[in-house]
Amino acid sequence: MSTGFAHGTGGGVAPGAVRPSAVHISGLTKVYGEGESAVHALRGVDLDVPHGDYVAIMGASGSGKSTMMNIIGCLDVPTGGGYRLDGIEIGSLDEAQLSIVRNRKIGFVFQSFNLLPRTSAFENVELPLVYGGVRGAERRRRALAALELVGLSDRVDHLPNQLSGGQQQRVAVARALVNAPSLILADEPTGNLDTHSSYEVMGLFDRLNAVGRTIVVITHEEDIAEHAKRFVRLVDGRIVEDRRLSPVDGLPPKLGAAERDRTPRVVTGG
Ligand SMILES: Nc1ncnc2c1ncn2[C@@H]1O[C@H](COP(=O)(O)OP(=O)(O)O)[C@@H](O)[C@H]1O
Ligand SMILES: [Mg+2]
Repeated sequence: MSTGFAHGTGGGVAPGAVRPSAVHISGLTKVYGEGESAVHALRGVDLDVPHGDYVAIMGASGSGKSTMMNIIGCLDVPTGGGYRLDGIEIGSLDEAQLSIVRNRKIGFVFQSFNLLPRTSAFENVELPLVYGGVRGAERRRRALAALELVGLSDRVDHLPNQLSGGQQQRVAVARALVNAPSLILADEPTGNLDTHSSYEVMGLFDRLNAVGRTIVVITHEEDIAEHAKRFVRLVDGRIVEDRRLSPVDGLPPKLGAAERDRTPRVVTGG
């Protein structure tokens, strides 16, 4: 359990009990504003994300992706419908409880990295553990393990502006997973990255999912979505397509393909 890469079963579930889904949404609606000017951003969304899944949410600009991300991330509340995160009924929580749930259960990755400037990679990654009340030595150990996991052991003391975009996003991924959250939620994580860095970050997500992390990625890029095991498309606040590409408990597609390519072939004849 030292790396954050370990396959957690989550706390509080009795042996033999079925673990609740990471995300369970039913009949979700979100209306901004009122009357004539009301915007129906979500019009009745149902979505169940079991632990171990890797979901790409796609849709054109204005289709409701960020609204959905904000609700899944407990950053905003729906107008109607239900949402359970890891079995917790989110609608019944107050602001203080919501901030605890956000800290313990969700690792966020944003398009713009959202690292604190003038704060080292190490301190950025350590921050969720500071909020979570994890003590000094344990905090240090876990933050360093998370940075090692994303391949940045040699950059722990660097400030964000001393790192490339791809490296900054890898720090953000380390920060997102350092708390061993139930869910990693990424909104356009490669939107500010060049092609090479995008592949690095998506490869990291692939490997995290392969060891059991549940990941929801919002993207409008098809080749990014192809990393996920499941493809959900939003149009005008409704899910119009929900297609599974790989089983929940299998390898993510790109990693699976890479594994197959590495398998030596038997050469016959000649
Ligand atoms: N705070 C807000 N107030 C009013 N309308 C909003 C607000 N946020 C989003 N919207 C509207 O809700 C719809 C969905 O937006 P959004 O969830 O941001 O879509 P996406 O992320 O897919 O581009 C859009 O029509 C947008 O203009
Ligand atoms: Mg958006």
